[in-house]
Amino acid sequence: MTAARIDGKAVAAALRGDVADAAAVFTDRTGRAPGLATVLVGEDPASAVYVRSKGKATGEAGMASFSHTLPDTISEAELLALVDQLNADDRVDGILVQLPLPAHIDANRVIAAIDPAKDVDGFHPVNAGRLATGLDGLVPCTPLGCLHLLKQQLGSLAGKDAVVIGRSNIVGKPMAMLLIGESATVTVAHSRTRDLPDVVRRADIVVAAVGRPEMIRGSWIKPGATVIDVGINRVPAAEEGKTRLVGDVAYDEAAEVASAITPVPGGVGPMTIAMLLRNTVVAAHRRAG
Ligand code: GUN
Repeated sequence: MTAARIDGKAVAAALRGDVADAAAVFTDRTGRAPGLATVLVGEDPASAVYVRSKGKATGEAGMASFSHTLPDTISEAELLALVDQLNADDRVDGILVQLPLPAHIDANRVIAAIDPAKDVDGFHPVNAGRLATGLDGLVPCTPLGCLHLLKQQLGSLAGKDAVVIGRSNIVGKPMAMLLIGESATVTVAHSRTRDLPDVVRRADIVVAAVGRPEMIRGSWIKPGATVIDVGINRVPAAEEGKTRLVGDVAYDEAAEVASAITPVPGGVGPMTIAMLLRNTVVAAHRRAG
């Protein structure tokens, strides 16, 4: 079998069109555009690229962008003061503090300081709790994007065997909660899981979020499974001095066995930004009542 390639870029473009329509409705209704504030601390080049692309996408969707770039010498107290200021700013519907933060700042404390109604990353404990208990809240963007691709590909997920590889608060745990919400039978595997290939072989749905280049091999995939690859790993390319991006799944091998698979790049990545924009419009509408 040669798997269908799930085109996250195209799905994300369609979503962003819907989000732009919803943003225009909000702007008509309230006289202001939905607003997203991004906070970048330090000069990690990958983080700077992400934050810049988020700002650009915000403008393209007809939303306001408030971007804050701070030196990595900033104190935790100063960062918390900025979060308070953004919480109080009525033009700001969504607040995103780019992670990782420098080691001298407690990221959990910063996340907990964000108004849960503006927490468009869905990382605040209140939103994590809402997701776990099946209440409406704001859901982390990457797993939300993965779920959208899965439902688009498969329709109902009820009764499917799903394996999530990775247990982070950003992807693995919320992904598992979303899949449970869709009535899938969910296994969360991680670095201490025994016989990972056997666990993966049982799965109709594989979501890989481990951050290890091409760790999941084609021989681990059940024939006909749907594979969602969250990994974005930079590895040396064949050409001297160049690099290329690969996922957590060995794509060519897995594509021989799976029925559908997301590429890297062009799979989950574009969906994360589309869902961030969607969360911002949702937050704006909810806040405006
Ligand atoms: N760093 C890596 N992924 C993310 C994300 O989804 N949100 C934030 N805020 N930081 C990240």
